[in-house]
This record gives sequence, C-alpha cells and structure tokens, in this order.
Amino acid sequence: MIIVLLGPPGAGKGTQAKEIQARYGVAHVSTGDLFRAALKEDSDLGRTVKGYLESGGLVPDDVTCAMVAQRIGRSDCAKGFMLDGFPRTVGQAQALDVLLGSRGLRLDAVAYFDVTEATAVERLGGRLTCRCGAGYHAKYMPPKEAGKCDRCGAALTQRTDDLPETIRKRLRVYEEQTAALIEEYGRRGLLRRVDANAAPEAVTAAVFAALDSL
Ligand code: AP5
Repeated sequence: MIIVLLGPPGAGKGTQAKEIQARYGVAHVSTGDLFRAALKEDSDLGRTVKGYLESGGLVPDDVTCAMVAQRIGRSDCAKGFMLDGFPRTVGQAQALDVLLGSRGLRLDAVAYFDVTEATAVERLGGRLTCRCGAGYHAKYMPPKEAGKCDRCGAALTQRTDDLPETIRKRLRVYEEQTAALIEEYGRRGLLRRVDANAAPEAVTAAVFAALDSL
C-alpha cells in the first residue's frame, strides 16, 4: 500500500499516521519529522532547511524530493509506505509520479483530511510534543500529568512553528501551494475524503473506512 496523507497543518495527519501504521504495517514517512530530525542533528540538510521551518515557508522542491527519494529506498518501505506532508506542491506531486514510476510502483490513494481553519488553528495552538515522538493536545489529548509525557516522563514542549503568527503563515502557504492537489488527485480518482473535524477515535474510524478496501 502506498498512500499520501493530505491536509492543512493541524488536520491530524501525524496523529492518524500512528493508527494507520499499526493497522496496515506501512512505514510512516513524514517530511516534517525528517526535517526536524536533520535540524536536531545540525546536519547540512538541517542547516539548509532551518529558515524555512522557522518561518513556516516550504523547503524548496529539489531538496524535499531528494530527501523523500532517499527515504523511500530504505528497507522498511519495501512493504508499503504513507507519505505524511508530501507532496505539498504541484512540482512535488509530479516528482512523486516520476519517482514511483521509476521503481515500478504507483500511488494507491490520497487520504484527504478535511478540517475547518478554526479547528486547525485551535489544534496547533494547543499541541504539545515529546522528544520520544509522542504527541498530545493541552485540551483534547492531554497527558495524565500536566507538562509530562505519559510514555517516557520527559517534559513536553511546543513546536517552534506553532506560534500564532507562524500558524497563520503555514495555513496561507497551504492554501496557496498545496490545496490545488485536492482537485488534482480528485480528478485522477485517488482522493478519499475524511471528515477530520471529529474526535480522534471517530477520525480513525473514518480513515480505516476509507482505506480498508485498498
Ligand atoms: P509538518 O511537520 O509536515 O507540519 P504540517 O503539515 O504543518 O502538519 P502538522 O504536523 O502541523 O499537523 P498534523 O496534521 O500532523 O496534525 P497533528 O496530528 O500533529 O511540516 C513542518 C514544516 O516542514 C513545514 O512548515 C515546512 O517548512 C516543512 N515541510 C514539511 N514537508 C514539506 C514538504 N513536502 N515540502 C516543503 N516543506 C515541507 O495534530 C495537531 C494537534 O491536534 C495535536 O496536538 C493533536 O494531539 C491534536 N489532534 C489531532 N487530531 C485531533 C482530533 N481529531 N481532535 C482533537 N485534537 C486532535
């Protein structure tokens, strides 16, 4: 199974990716996570992408596509993978087609996480993350003990791009550069729309209903 998770920042793609991975056994390829890991390591890639992530702009297509090409060549992707946050531009979508075609693969579906802007803003404003990879929301998915990870006990932090001004910019960038992909994938018969405004469990059920037939 090869799928794309498409939707605005805060739609719940990363949250549902964990459920999808558990159910279908596909690798989770998140371009945002890969960029943040590179930043943490202070690698060449990390230094290249730092300014884009901090400002809420998109990393250039050539850098992003090269990283994805390398990542999906790893062994954990051999049984299928989901791309979370990629493609995000028409150019990236075209590059993905070429990349998959060159390996004799094809995209099975695009799960589109449809949320209102108000929901996305509220979710991003309350998001808390842990260095171990666990994710929370101050109101909707709170940890058992305030500010502490349930899984490893470490202190939870806010992502640096989840500040109000950067959230607004990311949503604007999504509308300008990514939203066109909804129509494009719809035209190709690949789009599976999920109402992502609901509670997490309801969204998970809708995602499984959309993907079980693949
Ligand atoms: P990235 O990390 O991909 O961020 P994003 O797409 O903006 O998505 P988010 O991670 O913000 O949201 P999400 O939909 O995963 O929501 P989540 O599940 O966490 O990208 C970051 C940056 O990297 C970009 O700005 C760009 O600079 C760069 N980048 C990445 N990919 C790129 C690309 N392809 N090209 C160029 N540049 C790229 O949920 C959010 C919150 O809501 C959490 O607190 C969660 O607990 C809560 N929540 C989730 N679901 C629910 C629910 N159903 N009900 C209530 N709360 C919920």
